[in-house]
Amino acid sequence: MYDNWDELEKSIVDCKKCRLCENRTNIVFGEGNRDADIMFIGEGPGADEDAQGLPFVGKAGKLMNMAFEGLGINRADVYIANIVKCRPPQNRVPNQDEADGCLNYLRNQVILVKPKIIVLLGSTALKNILGQELSITACRGKWIEKKGIYYMPTWHPAALLRDENKKIEFWNDLKSVAERQ
Ligand code: URA
Repeated sequence: MYDNWDELEKSIVDCKKCRLCENRTNIVFGEGNRDADIMFIGEGPGADEDAQGLPFVGKAGKLMNMAFEGLGINRADVYIANIVKCRPPQNRVPNQDEADGCLNYLRNQVILVKPKIIVLLGSTALKNILGQELSITACRGKWIEKKGIYYMPTWHPAALLRDENKKIEFWNDLKSVAERQ
């Protein structure tokens, strides 16, 4: 674990811990306010994120931005990262060894940001952060407190693109986050 961002970032630059390094264009380290009260954790970069080196800049990210704007959440005020920092081929769910290899980077980011609230975007984020046995369908929308951090599991924004009905739940979950600050 590193106690500063420079060393953490340096330690990742040439990461070859798993096969996801083979096809990456950019490592998507994370972005936002490093002193944020709220942190968002997604699954892993897609094509747009891989091309730009930034999280949630594609279609799913645009949808998330719209919710942020509607709820008065300033994207620059929060910190956004993913379970894996390199794009899985065809946007598949990261394999467990890939997630396990990357998780210490994310844990280090959480330690440095010290968020009060972590929003878990989808099943991969929920399972890898709070427990493999948990189901996003059962947990979404319910606050879970662990070691002083309040977690809000919600749908991954890409799921909203496939199922309109999830939009209102996603909105309500983020509203609950905005109100808690
Ligand atoms: N989906 C994710 O889980 N993360 C991103 O950064 C983009 C899409």
